[in-house]
Amino acid sequence: MSERFAERVVLVTGGATGIGAASARAFAREGARVTVVDVNDADGEATAVEIGGRFRHVDVRDEDAVRDAVEEAVRDFGRLDVLLANAGIEWTKRIVDTTLEEWERVIGVNLTGVYLCCRFALMQMVKQGSGAIVVTASPHALMTVPDAGAYAASKGGVLALTKALALEGAPHGVRANALLPGSTDTPMLRREAEASSDPERMVRLWGSAHPIARLCRPEEVAEAALFLASDAASFVTGSALAVEGGLLASLPSGPPVGYTD
Ligand code: NAI
Repeated sequence: MSERFAERVVLVTGGATGIGAASARAFAREGARVTVVDVNDADGEATAVEIGGRFRHVDVRDEDAVRDAVEEAVRDFGRLDVLLANAGIEWTKRIVDTTLEEWERVIGVNLTGVYLCCRFALMQMVKQGSGAIVVTASPHALMTVPDAGAYAASKGGVLALTKALALEGAPHGVRANALLPGSTDTPMLRREAEASSDPERMVRLWGSAHPIARLCRPEEVAEAALFLASDAASFVTGSALAVEGGLLASLPSGPPVGYTD
């Protein structure tokens, strides 16, 4: 078994379920010492136990809690090699229907939370002269749909933040990259489907919107996260890796390849 991350110290936010949990498993399989950070204690603990890692309850909007989580990893393991800043929440409403409170909640978790985690991780990585940050953005950072304004704004911000992190980190041996996952079969996607009148049809439609004509699996995003965090990506920084089955390659002028209804 390859151990690309042997002895490496990895922090995964939003690691209780979905893409974060799949990534935590993959990092652990490759030898990493993983801390799962989340507000979902039951699933976070379960993931940590399963991978022989540790769980820490942290709301990524809470500056002190984020600082403590980074400091704890450094105190216990001596360093922080990888941050996967992945915690996020969905949002489906038109801008005219989104209240200021709702807007601030989405931006708070999806953008400010990523900034806080990246800030404290970067401080440590600069000190040690190495590290890799991977953030989970979204194709919504580039193109969006009419009822996802707050979500798209948060993910666009995350992508811009990633580029700034790459520039700040480069002189210190720290790389930062973003993931753009297509529709991925996670609790988030299932919750969104459940909010529609025909959840199974929604899931089918989302799958067939991708030229590869299916949903992405969380493990496929995890593989991309591991690549970006690994030494194999040593000259990759400030980039956005699309794991979206060709979604961003297709013009909306005709049915996507493989579309059936
Ligand atoms: P998920 O809902 O399964 O996982 C998100 C995790 O973040 C959950 O465990 C949740 O408890 C945690 N979380 C939420 N708010 C938090 C907070 N304030 N502090 C700490 N943890 C918090 O969803 P999924 O799909 O795995 O999402 C992971 C990331 O991927 C998110 O940033 C999402 O926006 C992004 N994404 C998801 C896509 C999809 O189709 N599932 C597509 C593109 C991006």
